[in-house]
Amino acid sequence: MAPIDSRATLKKYPLLGTSDAMQRIQADIDSAARSDAKVLLTGETGVGKEVVARAIHLRSGRNVAPFITINCAGIPDSLLESEFFGHARGSFTGAFRDNPGLLRQAHTGTVFLDEVGEMSLRMQALLLRFLETGEIQTVGAPAMQSHIDVRVVTATNRNLLESASAREFREDLYYRLNVYEIRIPPLRERQSDIPILLDHYLQIFADSHQRPVLGLSRTALDLLTVYPWPGNIRELRNVIERLVLRVNNPIVEPEDLSAEIAAYTAPARQEEAGSLRASISHQARVDGILERVLIHKESFWTTAYPAFMSRDITRDDMRHIVRTGLEQTHGSYRLLLGLFNMAADDYKRFLGFLKQHDCHLPFQRFRALRVTAGSRAAIA
Ligand SMILES: Nc1ncnc2c1ncn2[C@@H]1O[C@H](COP(=O)(O)OP(=O)(O)OP(=O)(O)O)[C@@H](O)[C@H]1O
Ligand SMILES: [Mg+2]
Repeated sequence: MAPIDSRATLKKYPLLGTSDAMQRIQADIDSAARSDAKVLLTGETGVGKEVVARAIHLRSGRNVAPFITINCAGIPDSLLESEFFGHARGSFTGAFRDNPGLLRQAHTGTVFLDEVGEMSLRMQALLLRFLETGEIQTVGAPAMQSHIDVRVVTATNRNLLESASAREFREDLYYRLNVYEIRIPPLRERQSDIPILLDHYLQIFADSHQRPVLGLSRTALDLLTVYPWPGNIRELRNVIERLVLRVNNPIVEPEDLSAEIAAYTAPARQEEAGSLRASISHQARVDGILERVLIHKESFWTTAYPAFMSRDITRDDMRHIVRTGLEQTHGSYRLLLGLFNMAADDYKRFLGFLKQHDCHLPFQRFRALRVTAGSRAAIA
C-alpha cells in the first residue's frame, strides 16, 4: 500500500504536461517503477529530472521506504564519501558522532544521485564497488561493513559518453548506471505543455503569496509559449512567481513581461500588426546576416554592424544575432569574437558597441544551453 504521504508528495512535486514527450515519460516511469533496474535521467537544467526520480520511487514497491537525494556536485571527496558511506566518531576532525551515511538511511528505498557526472574518479570507483557488491564500508571503521539494498537512480545534464571518452567518467560505471535511460526533453521541444504549467504556477503562487489569480492576455500567452526557456521549468516557475508578486492588473500584458521574453518574439508581434510579409523578409535579412557570419565566415564588422548602424536591422535583431552566437559559445563573449570572425583585440570595441546599444545579454543563462543556431533560427 502507498505510504500516507505519497499523495501529498505527488501534489508537492506534480509532473504536469500532456505532450507526446510527457506521455512517453509517464509510461517510462511506470515501466521503470516495476523493476529495480538502474535509471539514468538525462536532460538540461530545470527539466524535471528530480521530479521524475521521485515519481519512479513513489510508483514503485519501495515507496514506503525513504527517497534520498545526494547531490554529487561541488562537495569535496572526503565529505561526499562520508555522506555516502557514513563515518565513525573521531574518524576525522569534526566527526563528533557516528554517522550512518545516506546509503544506509535509504535502505530498502531509493537513492537519487544528482549530477553524477561531477563525481571525482575516486568516488566513481567507490560507487562502482558498492554497485557491484552492495557492501558499504564506513569511513574510519574498517569492521563496520554492511549490505545495503537500495534502488539507484542517477541524473546528469552532461553527455556522459563524451565525459567517458575524455576519461573524466568511467565507462564501466556509465554502463552500470545506464540500464534504463529516460531523456527529458527541454520545454521548447514540448511547447504544448507550457500553457498547463503557466496555469498551474499562476494558481500555486497566487495561493502561496495570497494574491489574486492572474490571467494572461492572448499575446502574453503567445510570447511565453514561443520563448525558448533555457532554464526550462525552473525558469518558468521563477518568471511566474515574479509576475504574481509584481503585476497589479488582473491580466498579464506583454509589457509586464521581461524584455528578454518580449524581445525574443518581436517578429511574431510584427506579424500580429499585419505586416507578415515585411516581417518574413526582414527575418530573412537577419538570417542572411547570420549565414554570412557563421557559414561564409565574414566579419561581424562588415555584416551585422553596418546593417545595424544604417537601421536596416533593429536592436532586437542585433540581440538575436548575439544570442545565437552565445548559444554556440555557451555564454563566452571571448569565443564569440572568433565565431563572428573578429580579431582577438576587438574584444573591448565589440563589448563597448553592444553595451552602448543595449545589446549586451547576460551570459549565465547560456551556460547550460545546448541548442544549435539552426534550431534556434527555426524557433525564431
Ligand atoms: N512536469 C512538471 N510539472 C510541474 N512542475 C515541474 C515539472 N518538471 C519540473 N517541475 C518543477 O520544475 C523545477 C525544476 O525541476 P527539477 O528540480 O526536477 O529539475 P532538474 O532537471 O533536476 O534540474 P537541475 O538539472 O537543475 O537539477 C521544480 O520546481 C519542479 O517541481
Ligand atoms: Mg536536479
